[in-house]
Amino acid sequence: MQPPAPGTLRILHLSDTHLTGDGALHQGSVDTAAALDRVLAHAEGVPGVGLVVVSGDVSEDGSRASYAAVLERVGGWAERHGAALVAVPGNHDLREGFRQVLANGHVLGEGGVRLAHTMEYHPPTVPVSGQSIVAGRRIVTVDTSVPGAGYGEVSEAALERLRTALAGDDAPHGSVVVLHHPPLPAPTALHDALRLQNPGDLAGAIGGSDVRVVLGGHYHHHFAGSLAGVPVLVAPGVANDTDVTGAYDEESAHVGSGALVVDVSEDGSIWSTPFRVPDPDADPLAFHLDADAVASVIAQAGKH
Ligand SMILES: [Fe+2]
Repeated sequence: MQPPAPGTLRILHLSDTHLTGDGALHQGSVDTAAALDRVLAHAEGVPGVGLVVVSGDVSEDGSRASYAAVLERVGGWAERHGAALVAVPGNHDLREGFRQVLANGHVLGEGGVRLAHTMEYHPPTVPVSGQSIVAGRRIVTVDTSVPGAGYGEVSEAALERLRTALAGDDAPHGSVVVLHHPPLPAPTALHDALRLQNPGDLAGAIGGSDVRVVLGGHYHHHFAGSLAGVPVLVAPGVANDTDVTGAYDEESAHVGSGALVVDVSEDGSIWSTPFRVPDPDADPLAFHLDADAVASVIAQAGKH
């Protein structure tokens, strides 16, 4: 791959790694640690990465061991490549386990240097918020998870942290927002029921600001849109690959992983290059939920 242009921040955008603490298979079919290893091995050939992002559903079970496994793999890759590392919780994450291993999610700073954190106790009701500066850009993580739910929401506390971060004057080349639930509609009923509930509030916070791009995940397929004129990029899942062409009220995913290489230039221009990492030995179908099964997941995890 072509190296990034001078002054450009290149981001390796991973999402939905869904690692388990005990090695259990995701949805009974995918070894997510092996999938993550394949994606990272594939990304070895991507030059000039300055920041690695994991936009939520870092863990499947919220266990400390699962976060340690992600840190070992993704943190090791980032350190080797001299890249910063930032992660944010998704609906499968548990804030307690996340914080124990990844603190506020800003794990490595510019150049892959480990960031120091004072380990304060926060109850799980408090969203995991953080910000750091990488190559003159302000990287702001916004926790859209709602404890016990599958849908997403930007709480008033998280919005306030975001507004305060964006009001700073410490980022000459603008901001990058990282969150799990993208402020975009979804192509399947399941994901639509688990969407971000208040995209308008997020639009109010980033509209007219210096945010160059919003990076999200959750949908397990590549998706691009915009909010308040700001590009929104959804990375394909590491865990599996949603079939977006199926019936609206059913849900299927194929075995396969991917990621984005996002270049953010000094003038705020954005280029995003998705790459796919198939598993040639696997059964192509990761799972299929019929309409009744989807309805029961929505009843359990959607907004009531
Ligand atoms: Fe996910």
